Amino acid sequence: MEMTIEGLDIGVLINNVGVTYPGAMFFHEVDENIWKNVVKINLEGTNLVTMAVLPGMIRRRKGVIVNMGSGASIVVPSHPLYSIYAATKA
Ligand SMILES: NC(=O)c1ccc[n+]([C@@H]2O[C@H](COP(=O)([O-])OP(=O)(O)OC[C@H]3O[C@@H](n4cnc5c(N)ncnc54)[C@H](OP(=O)(O)O)[C@@H]3O)[C@@H](O)[C@H]2O)c1
Repeated sequence: MEMTIEGLDIGVLINNVGVTYPGAMFFHEVDENIWKNVVKINLEGTNLVTMAVLPGMIRRRKGVIVNMGSGASIVVPSHPLYSIYAATKA
């Protein structure tokens, strides 16, 4: 990841990537492949990109990072029908 952005002066990072379930489901109904994909993309992907970009911003003493959240983690506490997705957007 660091090699991909080497030499780039990234001033703004918008972490927009995000996936959820194909439809509303209770916790025990979510297929393992689906929830693992949600965690991988929403958490691992976002963290890896942020970890790669942030040191350059700190070095230059400027930069902005916007993380796309969701009402699923704010409006409805723990959102029962999207609980794993909501956790990745907390
Ligand atoms: N839609 C809503 O109602 C809603 C509400 C609250 C929050 N959000 C949040 O807002 C953000 C955008 O949502 P959206 O509805 O606009 O979603 P979207 O239309 O499905 O767009 C999601 C973006 O993520 C990218 N993406 C998905 N899987 C990827 C992967 N494995 N690797 C790289 N890129 C990948 C997609 O790229 P490609 O186009 O190349 O597939 C797309 O650009 C998300 O973080 C979501 O959680 C959405």
